[in-house]
Amino acid sequence: MKKSTKFAHIGRPPIKAGAGVNPSVMRASTLLFDKADDLYNGKHRIYGRHGSPVHDALSQAFCALENGAGCTLTPSGLSANTLSVLANVMTGDHILVSDSSYGPVRHFCDTVLVKFGVETEYYPPDIGEGIGRLIRNNTSCILLESPGSLSLEIQDLPAIVKAAAAHDITTIVDNTWSAGLVYAPLDLGADISVHAATKYFGGHSDVLFGAVISRTKKQARKVEKVAIALGNSTSPDDAYQILRGFRTLVTRCDQQEQTALSLAKWFAKHDKIKRVIHPALSSHPNHDLWQRDFTGSACLFSIVLKPCSEQDVLKLLDNLKLFAKGFSFGGFESLVIHCDPQLTRNHDPKFGGPLIRIACGLEDIEDMKNDWAQALKTL
Ligand SMILES: Cc1ncc(COP(=O)(O)O)c(C=O)c1O
Repeated sequence: MKKSTKFAHIGRPPIKAGAGVNPSVMRASTLLFDKADDLYNGKHRIYGRHGSPVHDALSQAFCALENGAGCTLTPSGLSANTLSVLANVMTGDHILVSDSSYGPVRHFCDTVLVKFGVETEYYPPDIGEGIGRLIRNNTSCILLESPGSLSLEIQDLPAIVKAAAAHDITTIVDNTWSAGLVYAPLDLGADISVHAATKYFGGHSDVLFGAVISRTKKQARKVEKVAIALGNSTSPDDAYQILRGFRTLVTRCDQQEQTALSLAKWFAKHDKIKRVIHPALSSHPNHDLWQRDFTGSACLFSIVLKPCSEQDVLKLLDNLKLFAKGFSFGGFESLVIHCDPQLTRNHDPKFGGPLIRIACGLEDIEDMKNDWAQALKTL
């Protein structure tokens, strides 16, 4: 069954006379029992923090998306990342994190993990099988983000999985960019796929949410145990919104993918643009890996401007009318950011000009091009 069909039907209550089309939102911190034995016999969910029927339906949808064996829902994409790591490290461990990882994940490693005696080493995203040389006896996790959400490097996941598996190391992939529609890290052997569901699944830029999807039941239980210990919980209203986003996910992402590709090709011909960084373009340095491991692309890509002052960059962005300045993607509205102020790298990617990230929304492509054409004239 195709994903669009699956997501129109998954997690819905059985159809009978007058049934609701979606699961109801049950708001409850306290769950009640008529038999005292049920409080402790381990047969029931005993407290609201541990979920509700709409959470179960949503977890089912995420497992279907990624061929996962289990899913833990989290209050944000960042907490999905941090939970995955916390479930798989202990004091004295060393972890390998892609230099292209989402900035707040670095912040977590550098400010929280370090306090608990976990050492983080940042590796260049194009390392491939070379990761083997960085593996130590105490390496417990390898984090990937493919493509990197600002600089869009595609990583050689199968090569990294092979090296990790030989040492029983957990591989965690932030799969937010692809919405799980055009990239399947668990099928390629990763242990965990993480989503900032805030993006495409929310789809309307008004909910924060995350998901940790595990390839095996054993890994899923490990994550769930730590989530319970940490007091991780999500609101049933938010879970409902994310499940609703699943229903239209494929259609929205298809349109945003086409729009982004068309805009990227348009930029590639513009004389003010030095470079377009879009994995589906043959000019992308890891285009071969993208062709091998991905079945499509997404709404998010970057451009490098010909060298100009920071003031010129700010003026360019301020002159855009449809692309508001904002730190996200996957919503209905187009967004843009300049990346240089937040680029923290141990291995310099050498862009050679200001890096701008573009997130295409659902507006008309000709309107988007016209907006950029008028703004670029100011450069
Ligand atoms: C790749 C990636 N991972 C994780 C996150 C964090 O998601 P959230 O904003 O839901 O915490 C983001 C947010 O921009 C992201 O781009």
